[in-house]
Amino acid sequence: LSQTLFKNPNEPPVVFHWFPVIGSTVTYGMDPPRFFKEHREKLGDVFTFVLLGRKTTVCLGPAGNDFVLNGKIRDVNAEDIYTVLTTPVFGRDVVYDCPNAKLMEQKKFMKVALTTEAFRQYVPIISEEVTSYFKRTADFKAQSGVVNIPPKMAEITIFTASHALQGKAIREQFDESLAALYHDLDMGFSPINFTFHWAPLPWNNRRDHAQRTVAKLYMDTIKRRRANPELDAQDMMFHLMNSSYKNGVRVPDHEIAHMMIALLMAGQHSSSSTSSWIMLLLASRPDIMEDLYQEQVNALGPDLPPLQYEDLAKLPLNAAIIKETLRLHAPIHSIMRAIKQPLHVPGTKFVIPTNHVLMSAPGVSASDPVFFPNPDLWDPHRWLPDSPNAPTLARAQDDEEEEKIDYGYGLVSKGAASPYLPFGAGRHRCIGEQFANVQLQTIVAEIVRLFKFRNVDGSNKVIGTDYASLFSRPLEPANIHWERREKA
Ligand code: HEM
Repeated sequence: LSQTLFKNPNEPPVVFHWFPVIGSTVTYGMDPPRFFKEHREKLGDVFTFVLLGRKTTVCLGPAGNDFVLNGKIRDVNAEDIYTVLTTPVFGRDVVYDCPNAKLMEQKKFMKVALTTEAFRQYVPIISEEVTSYFKRTADFKAQSGVVNIPPKMAEITIFTASHALQGKAIREQFDESLAALYHDLDMGFSPINFTFHWAPLPWNNRRDHAQRTVAKLYMDTIKRRRANPELDAQDMMFHLMNSSYKNGVRVPDHEIAHMMIALLMAGQHSSSSTSSWIMLLLASRPDIMEDLYQEQVNALGPDLPPLQYEDLAKLPLNAAIIKETLRLHAPIHSIMRAIKQPLHVPGTKFVIPTNHVLMSAPGVSASDPVFFPNPDLWDPHRWLPDSPNAPTLARAQDDEEEEKIDYGYGLVSKGAASPYLPFGAGRHRCIGEQFANVQLQTIVAEIVRLFKFRNVDGSNKVIGTDYASLFSRPLEPANIHWERREKA
């Protein structure tokens, strides 16, 4: 009763809770999408809930996505929320440990290495990493078997991304010590660290040691490369080594090292979770895995020549697999912002005060039947012509036609009022979208050439989602049955 009586009528409705600090932490934490959908039905698109003692206001639907993700810099801010997690992991002076204008410049530098020209080189590298992984990994030596797929996809993701983005020399160190160090860095990304990032806990000590060691390794590599220009390859490190801020200052070596860590960490969880979902979904629909194989045979010829960047555009179903998987399983389910001044939500009477955290959850509109018929059905064909499940609104198709704006790191859509935004929008929009697409499409195409998957019990069931870490991923063990297309 007190939650209703003492409520400011201009503030959004509050989800009922029994205990003040715990609030809705448990129900939200168990299944954020379900939590959003249930309370949206009762309270509308804008409502507040208590998360770990903080009032958190979520704005749902395309208008909510736009409101949060395209918020003005004087109104909303990402660094106040994320820096406690990211600074100890990435290192100082990059991403959220600097003013937003500097991050925009850093995103621009990083984007230079993510061009079509670069992608052309990356596809053969990624292909070779995938095929050699399945040749050398003990779990895949037989003709068929059962495997818990997420840890395998995590390895494939880090090997392919590190080789493509950071070059051969760094990739080789992943077989030795780097993988373990990145694992320790990763511990810094657990939700508990929103509160205990500073604490002298064993995993925080390991995180700090790993950060210093990895950063030093990159800085030593940079020094070696500066001393030996003949070592230069046109990779990410090279581009950063040759970048200067608008004020003329060359990017310092420690910032290059920290950006290299940030790039690999930013993509690892999202891409690895997405590729695991894809494999599990294909195991639940072996018929679609066969469609993918036939698509390659038809488009590239029965001999299936080595995959090139240009081939990816000839495989629309292969591309749609990624699009549809991200629609239902976007790894970043909640995006948060700090509020810098009271915010009026357009079209409502609500004003959100500065002591609230602002939240966006674009996954809710991406599974709304208003925009996607049979929203819970994983149907990659919906993104191809003439599908009965095609997105119903033109806006849902894509945001490519929209008016563009430059926040400092290249053009992005001006409005974010799309129901489909797995890569975010606005000034914090993902710069890794195209790389992730190239990486995932290549991995899927190569795996489809090598294997047939099915669920262990032969059913069409799909495993549930684990929301315990910051990025959602399949619950483990997530076993699939695999069989080689050809004799090993
Ligand atoms: C930002 C999703 C892969 C680098 C974001 C955001 C989302 C996202 C939703 C916005 C976060 C926010 O607004 O707070 C994804 C998904 C991926 C993926 C779904 C793969 C399937 C990658 C990769 C890289 C990368 C491979 C690097 C090569 C970044 C960076 C940002 C970002 C640097 C900017 C953060 C900011 O400006 O605040 N990503 N990402 N991402 N992502 Fe990705």
